[in-house]
Amino acid sequence: MAGQSSKVRVALNGYGVIGKRVADAVACQDDMELVGIADIATDWRLRTAAQRGFKLFAAQESSVEAMRRAGFEIAGALDTLLGRADIVVDCTPKRIGAKNTELYRNHGVKFIVQGGEKHEVAGHSFVAEASYAGAVGRQSTRVVSCNTTSVVRTLTALKDAGLLRRARGTLMRRATDPWESHKGGIMNTLVPEGEIPSHQGPDAQTVDPELDVVTMAVMVPETLAHLHCWAVQLARAAKKEEVIEAFRSSSRIALIRMSDGLTAINTVKELMADMGRPRDNLYEVALWEDLVTVQGDEAFYAYMVDNQAIVIPETIDAIRALTGREKTAKASIAKTNAALGISPLLFR
Ligand SMILES: NC(=O)c1ccc[n+]([C@@H]2O[C@H](COP(=O)([O-])OP(=O)(O)OC[C@H]3O[C@@H](n4cnc5c(N)ncnc54)[C@H](O)[C@@H]3O)[C@@H](O)[C@H]2O)c1
Repeated sequence: MAGQSSKVRVALNGYGVIGKRVADAVACQDDMELVGIADIATDWRLRTAAQRGFKLFAAQESSVEAMRRAGFEIAGALDTLLGRADIVVDCTPKRIGAKNTELYRNHGVKFIVQGGEKHEVAGHSFVAEASYAGAVGRQSTRVVSCNTTSVVRTLTALKDAGLLRRARGTLMRRATDPWESHKGGIMNTLVPEGEIPSHQGPDAQTVDPELDVVTMAVMVPETLAHLHCWAVQLARAAKKEEVIEAFRSSSRIALIRMSDGLTAINTVKELMADMGRPRDNLYEVALWEDLVTVQGDEAFYAYMVDNQAIVIPETIDAIRALTGREKTAKASIAKTNAALGISPLLFR
């Protein structure tokens, strides 16, 4: 394990939608070093990793030769990479992460899996503002899915303000990610998730078992982001300003306005591009301030979730928590926000 004065040595396994964003985010933290990336792909997807100067490894011994034949300089197999790391962030497709944990344990490296894996795989589920303390010094954690992250962030803000009683939400989920929309995804239809509650509500309770939350989900034919609509029973009658103030207290919730022309998820994405965010990343939950409506003890609101980006700051915080590099969520969140350019001032 690296000492407190040196950088945390981070390995990444799986350089896809989430992995490539995690790699960039790790590379710009002053207390972390990206020691290498493992994958099995032999096509264009690893080219940018090589161009960025990241060391490439083959995730499987059998892939070493194929990756070299494809023109990549491969420093070795995953075993070698794990030998050089304090912690590995697993961003492989759903269920592969669970299979990899035995290898990580055998190498004695700490590990983070992503939201495609079940809670039991790591025994701890992570959202920085809600469960950082419980992850400090642990061997492993799971950064929960994009939707679950947004649910926990917003409900934690209401809970911390003493306003939350119970929450009921409907999630409109993007059908597939933009880069692979030629392969599949739905068209001209809407597909409700096959059970109520949909899995995100129970998943939020793996982070905070106290949350009284029920979700329903519908898959929608677009690729940009998810959109959530919520009805929340407050702990007491409150003013709209109190609810907005609660959301404002989280640096990971950006208050946006319809009246500012941000009337749809594509306009918010365009703003991210104009702001020069890498890959147009929206790390925050973008919540419409002028849609927030309070009637007595009920609050109603809607927000957008950039599924490709929201878990990136959480993953960086999870690295600091597991390695004990920062003991409090507040300190880690401040560092991560500064490095990724997350600031509420950007949205004013
Ligand atoms: N895409 C999203 O919107 C999103 C959002 C939040 C969380 N997640 C979760 O993040 C994880 C990764 O999802 P993704 O969308 O980035 O996947 P992805 O398919 O975009 O990327 C996966 C990468 O892993 C590589 N890979 C495949 N098998 C491998 C193996 N055995 N060893 C090493 N690398 C291997 C692939 O070549 C690819 O580069 C999943 O748990 C997913 O549920 C995804």
